[in-house]
Amino acid sequence: MIPIGAAPAPPPIVALDRVSRTYAMDGVRVEALRDVSLAVAPGEFVAIIGPSGSGKSTMMNIIGCLDRPSAGAYRLAGMPVAELSDDGLARLRSRTIGFVFQSYNLLPRTTALENVATPLLYQGVGRRERTKRATAALERLGLGDRLHHEPNQLSGGQQQRVAVARAIVTDPALILADEPTGNLDTASGRDVLAVLRELHSTGRTIVLITHNAEVATAATRQVHIRDGQLTDGWMAA
Ligand SMILES: Nc1ncnc2c1ncn2[C@@H]1O[C@H](COP(=O)(O)OP(=O)(O)OP(=O)(O)O)[C@@H](O)[C@H]1O
Ligand SMILES: [Mg+2]
Repeated sequence: MIPIGAAPAPPPIVALDRVSRTYAMDGVRVEALRDVSLAVAPGEFVAIIGPSGSGKSTMMNIIGCLDRPSAGAYRLAGMPVAELSDDGLARLRSRTIGFVFQSYNLLPRTTALENVATPLLYQGVGRRERTKRATAALERLGLGDRLHHEPNQLSGGQQQRVAVARAIVTDPALILADEPTGNLDTASGRDVLAVLRELHSTGRTIVLITHNAEVATAATRQVHIRDGQLTDGWMAA
């Protein structure tokens, strides 16, 4: 029997529970994150905003499973990352997260289509299906007429749209974008933010990291970080 009534709230996609990250260099300790708690529910569009050196990239690396907390617990899509091996973590990451970086990080001398298809290759998807899905992702980003262009034959804004197509081609639960408009002119930056808003309107969860208050207004919730601590807008799991 399925009980009648409100369905339980789905677990957060991102759940940081009193997470700290300390770097030790030449005997000097830097507390880049201190006691950070944050929950992001499925379908949210959250901006993490703070000045240079406040700990944004450190936090992005932990949310993206590229780094692990020094203290505290992190659950991604309900999975406690501390209990996963490095391989297990890499699999969870590639299944769950699409990354967009400030510097696009596209493969040089490789067409837009092949760049976008690469994450599918790692997931063992066959060639025809890879081409079909990568083409559809690029068409969605308005790049249907640039499939065979290489990165150096594309504008910065187009390269970033290729990177967004690559981030969504695996249909990830979470899109994690670190300063995605940082290298773009105002108009191209607006285009990329419009794409993120459109992805959000179709149900994606997005975490956007930026130092720019105007960029952060694209999100529906702003979380402020300063000196490694969340000061405003956070919500614990
Ligand atoms: N690998 C590292 N080793 C030692 N210290 C580090 C390391 N990475 C970052 N830090 C320090 O941690 C703090 C937070 O850095 P972080 O890169 O997270 O800031 P940020 O908010 O992303 O800044 P920006 O806006 O300039 O990118 C800084 O004081 C930085 O010097
Ligand atoms: Mg940074």
